Amino acid sequence: MTNKTRIGVLGAGTMGTGIAQIAATYEHQVILYDTNPNQLENSEKGLKKILNRQVEKERMTRNEVNSILQKITFTGDIEKFTGCEFVIEAIVEDLAIKKEVFQRIEELVPADALLASNTSSLSIASISSALKKPERFLGVHFFNPAPLMKLVEIIPGISTDPSVTEKTRNLIDSWEKVTVIARDTPGFIVNRVARPFYGEALRIYEEGIADHATIDWAMKELGGFKMGPFELMDLIGHDVNYKVTESVFKEFYYDPRFKPSFTQKRLVEAGRLGKKTGIGFYDYREGAAKLEPVKDKELGEKILYRILAMLINEAADAVFMNVASVKDVDLAMTNGVNYPKGLLEWADELKPSRVLDWMSSLQVEYREDRYRPNPLLKRKVRNGETFYG
Ligand SMILES: NC(=O)c1ccc[n+]([C@@H]2O[C@H](COP(=O)([O-])OP(=O)(O)OC[C@H]3O[C@@H](n4cnc5c(N)ncnc54)[C@H](O)[C@@H]3O)[C@@H](O)[C@H]2O)c1
Repeated sequence: MTNKTRIGVLGAGTMGTGIAQIAATYEHQVILYDTNPNQLENSEKGLKKILNRQVEKERMTRNEVNSILQKITFTGDIEKFTGCEFVIEAIVEDLAIKKEVFQRIEELVPADALLASNTSSLSIASISSALKKPERFLGVHFFNPAPLMKLVEIIPGISTDPSVTEKTRNLIDSWEKVTVIARDTPGFIVNRVARPFYGEALRIYEEGIADHATIDWAMKELGGFKMGPFELMDLIGHDVNYKVTESVFKEFYYDPRFKPSFTQKRLVEAGRLGKKTGIGFYDYREGAAKLEPVKDKELGEKILYRILAMLINEAADAVFMNVASVKDVDLAMTNGVNYPKGLLEWADELKPSRVLDWMSSLQVEYREDRYRPNPLLKRKVRNGETFYG
């Protein structure tokens, strides 16, 4: 596939609009389709606004912006997909609707066209079951906002032909993205490995070890994370964040490592969804008092190393279970959620034996399966090896 490849994008919402913008920036002709005319109008208006701002800031010329806009056809006519050689779907996260749409698309596109879904939580296998030729279908998972976030997880399903994975990866690489290959397992890489960032922070909070401002302070100040877990959950929205946790928990057959938190559930039930509703863990309303963190280094390190050990343990598990390579797990977390360092590189720096000690002492203290050290981490320590060694 080259920049002459015609790209079809299904769904002109947040993700579809972003993906269409990227493809048009790299000179593809793009068909952007949605069933909702208002959404198409909003998508076009929103994109123009974003691009005009680029001209104002002198990051792009008027000609460049015009050329991007000219390349995108906003349409409610699905027949326009005839001739698209690569189609990516970013519609509502509903398996039945996605299956139905792909069946229709399969009838329209050329026999050798490739089909992809941007799903975050459905399995690639489940969507592929609707297709006559599942070997040409795979997952291509962008992160929000798609034009800015570098990472794209490429997820071959059980039926995907290896050449389809390779061609797709080459295409997305040509859009200057960082691509990683993930196995078709719940949460792929990022949404699985990142769970303890939220889950363990919530657990520390629930145990009363520290308040949310102090936990955020520890992760930012001592850990170098751009945002603390509570600030980030408030920004993502607790409804969205809780749903991802719950879905990963269920999909992993209720593994206690991924157990959701009552505290977060109550926030959702109360409608305290975070920044978008004016209140979540923090109060964003005018005149609200600001909670000051307890800047105690010893407490901060206890918090940081507990959350970090859980994150590294999860990253090790993704490698152990062949979800992704060491390198791809690190690339995913640094480019998909902007972690300050790859988790396994971090483990090597800290020394795997220290990480194992933290995990083991949590397991001894709590006697919960949630804190079981990963076999790969144990193996590395036993053999005196590092993850990159
Ligand atoms: N928002 C994110 O942060 C994010 C990140 C990665 C992946 N995703 C995934 O991307 C997909 C889209 O998410 P989004 O946030 O852009 O959603 P969105 O709600 O912003 O947009 C979905 C769009 O799909 C359209 N649509 C619904 N049914 C349709 C149909 N049958 N045919 C054509 N269009 C239809 C809707 O009108 C809407 O414009 C989902 O699968 C989601 O899991 C979302």
